[in-house]
Amino acid sequence: MPEICFVGRSNVGKSSLLNTLASRKIARTGSTPGATRLINLYNVRCEWEGRKREAIFSDFPGFGYSKVSKGIYQNWQAMVEGYMKDNEWIRRVLWAFDIRRAFDGLDQMLLEWLKGNGLAFSLVLTKADKEGRGWALQTRQAFQQRLGSDDVFLFSSKDGSGRQELLAHIARSIG
Ligand code: GTP
Ligand code: MG
Repeated sequence: MPEICFVGRSNVGKSSLLNTLASRKIARTGSTPGATRLINLYNVRCEWEGRKREAIFSDFPGFGYSKVSKGIYQNWQAMVEGYMKDNEWIRRVLWAFDIRRAFDGLDQMLLEWLKGNGLAFSLVLTKADKEGRGWALQTRQAFQQRLGSDDVFLFSSKDGSGRQELLAHIARSIG
């Protein structure tokens, strides 16, 4: 089955994003970092753009939540790499990124790793409800320039904004 992976820093809202897209509280969420400890796979069935579709949504643990350290990133990377390597089912990686955070060295490492492995990915700017619309749009544009890609989305699992646009994007990704 086609698979969509949900990755990103800890506590940015990966599991909430997955639940909002699936319209079901299937993935565990939490206010303290580290709510997701393993790679959890969910079989999601829903109607997108009038067509019934089925996919695997895989929810990943966050990386870099305690002291920002290369060691923590490398553990995470080894697990993710082991899982994603030669996984022909992955159609797209959704990289959840808290819209209020700055892009740092660990994020840069993830970016290079995704590019280096030829994975199709999109950036989802989460918690967009915490920013004014104008600023959120500016942030989106800045990320589009940084990544050299249009695949940057504004999203809020609190008010559901961006959900339809992202579902359409997922539907295109899984074909
Ligand atoms: P880990 O699994 O620990 O890495 O976290 P995660 O990235 O899966 O985040 P999770 O979905 O567990 O959410 C973390 C916290 O952020 C929870 O308290 C959520 O309620 C909150 N949160 C998630 N998405 C949003 C959002 O769009 N808006 C707001 N305001 N809060 C959010
Ligand atoms: Mg989680």
